[in-house]
Amino acid sequence: MSVNIAIDGPAGAGKSTIARKLAAELGFVYVDTGAMYRALAYHFLSCGIAPENGEAVAAACKGADVTIAYADGEQQVFLNGENVSGKIRTEEVGNMTSAVSVYPAVRAKLVEIQREIAAKSDVIMDGRDIGTCVLPGAQVKIYLTAGTATRAKRRYDELTAKGQACDLAKIERDIEDRDYRDMHREVSPLRQADDAVLIDSSQMGIDEVVAAIREVYEGVCGR
Ligand code: DC
Repeated sequence: MSVNIAIDGPAGAGKSTIARKLAAELGFVYVDTGAMYRALAYHFLSCGIAPENGEAVAAACKGADVTIAYADGEQQVFLNGENVSGKIRTEEVGNMTSAVSVYPAVRAKLVEIQREIAAKSDVIMDGRDIGTCVLPGAQVKIYLTAGTATRAKRRYDELTAKGQACDLAKIERDIEDRDYRDMHREVSPLRQADDAVLIDSSQMGIDEVVAAIREVYEGVCGR
């Protein structure tokens, strides 16, 4: 049976950086489910679909094939055969993603693919509903969070380092809006699973968080 580590939490808590690092240490496959939701949202944006139009979103799901593959250990996400990994990291796609991930048709499509991957391999999967919905039987569940201001500043530094002009106050507002939507949607809202370990990374460095999760893993699965 494969070993599954589920990491959930709000945007900017450091899930992907930490999950990628721990996956490399443990020799697990890292699955970034947000990238899969982003690829679908990118598809809807390309089709000119408004996020409020649930019927059009559900219909467009049928014409979108989302797959993932790995190049040099990095997850790549493909939309209808095209590698869209470089196109899905904008704030526009991020906000669209949060808005359309409320629809059952969107979630059902991706959850099925995610479960298939986790059944075949040892994975560290990050997202919003991994411990609660996608992999309720995961051996290790982590809920990783950090204060809003900390998360906004991290995002600001990330974008600034890439040379993208941005406004810290707007990023913080967007994060608050996204948290609210992700936590209050009807289907699979973001919440800490009852059996998840809570880690607040506000005052922790990356290596400290990786070590903390590794300790939880070793406590459950042995060294
Ligand atoms: O982790 P991220 O910022 O790339 O995710 C973008 C959006 O995708 C997030 O606001 C909510 C949605 N998402 C989701 O609903 N369920 C997941 N398992 C992963 C992401």
